[in-house]
Amino acid sequence: MITVNVDLGERAYPIHIGADLIGKADLFAPHIAGSSVTIVTNTTVEPLYGDALRRALAPLGKNVSTVVLPDGEAYKNWETLNLIFDALLGARADRKTTLIALGGGVIGDMTGFAAASYMRGVPFIQVPTTLLSQVDSSVGGKTGINHPLGKNMIGAFYQPQAVIADIGALRTLPPRELAAGIAEVIKTGAIADASFFDWIEANIDALNRCEPLALAEAVKRSCEIKASVVAADEREGGLRAILNFGHTFGHAIEAGLGYGEWLHGEAVGCGMVMAADLSVRLGHLDDAARARLVALVKAAHLPTRAPALGAARYVDLMRVDKKAEAGEIKFILLKRFGETLITRAPDDAVNATLAASV
Ligand SMILES: NC(=O)c1ccc[n+]([C@@H]2O[C@H](COP(=O)([O-])OP(=O)(O)OC[C@H]3O[C@@H](n4cnc5c(N)ncnc54)[C@H](O)[C@@H]3O)[C@@H](O)[C@H]2O)c1
Repeated sequence: MITVNVDLGERAYPIHIGADLIGKADLFAPHIAGSSVTIVTNTTVEPLYGDALRRALAPLGKNVSTVVLPDGEAYKNWETLNLIFDALLGARADRKTTLIALGGGVIGDMTGFAAASYMRGVPFIQVPTTLLSQVDSSVGGKTGINHPLGKNMIGAFYQPQAVIADIGALRTLPPRELAAGIAEVIKTGAIADASFFDWIEANIDALNRCEPLALAEAVKRSCEIKASVVAADEREGGLRAILNFGHTFGHAIEAGLGYGEWLHGEAVGCGMVMAADLSVRLGHLDDAARARLVALVKAAHLPTRAPALGAARYVDLMRVDKKAEAGEIKFILLKRFGETLITRAPDDAVNATLAASV
């Protein structure tokens, strides 16, 4: 097992990474102070890992209950969030109740938001079971739900007590979900660490095959990088925005096609290719680096051609993105692997990228 620490002063917490960690009581014990625990999971993950987690918690002598939510991004909303509050209030859960999020990013984001707001804040532990949630969403404290008018629009920054990333749980992940997680791994290498990017290129087949050693290394390096960015800029005042590389174009793809058509990681994969194209057009990145990025995204079985939504629609969608300021689109571009810049871009360059990407 490897442990990465997220250095946030009194809100610091460990990320434990390794095989078969869901069954290890001693990892959970230090982070559960009260007498009751509520596991929040969904209809897909509960039959896979619910029993293993409850068996691990049994020796701790806590009062353990489980809330099983419907599965899917479409359920990341107020109604489903209320099911968590219904269960907590119905069980008279007190301020020391610990919530455990057992599932992917949807469960993690919703459980974190429930923990941030139930009785004005109860502790929670993340047990991410998708690659995307292990390398990205479980780390950094962004929690929340979607609103019909926008994704992730209602939420809070709220840090967990611990993250327990069980690489063994990835064995049951559908291949498309695995690839979507690899997109965020590639993103992390591209923006922050050229040697990690080299490592991903060399190990992409092992990652595609879900080899545990390669996955553990990818999760460790991604968490180290995300943890250091978050420690420097917890509430996205500046630096943290680099984590959105590929997301400006990616969010437009997701919203333009209708959420759920492409997975988030698929849209980010293609979005990185588009951002690299724009980086080359504006003279920041050399074409050989762009070609390496495209080849790696392709090797991860992610899309590299954007859907034909029309340039005007793309621009509209990017303008309403949460990260745009007063309708002004900020692009996260690459200078080289490991170095980014955040900038506006002239319309003709953006249009040329959009035309070249479909
Ligand atoms: N908080 C953040 O910083 C942050 C960052 C990135 C993404 N997100 C959010 O994360 C969500 C996406 O997360 P995701 O990609 O994990 O999607 P997800 O939670 O929908 O999980 C994907 C699918 O895999 C299933 N699943 C989970 N674990 C499994 C396992 N071990 N075996 C088999 N199936 C399993 C899920 O039930 C679901 O059907 C989005 O809502 C996004 O907004 C949040």
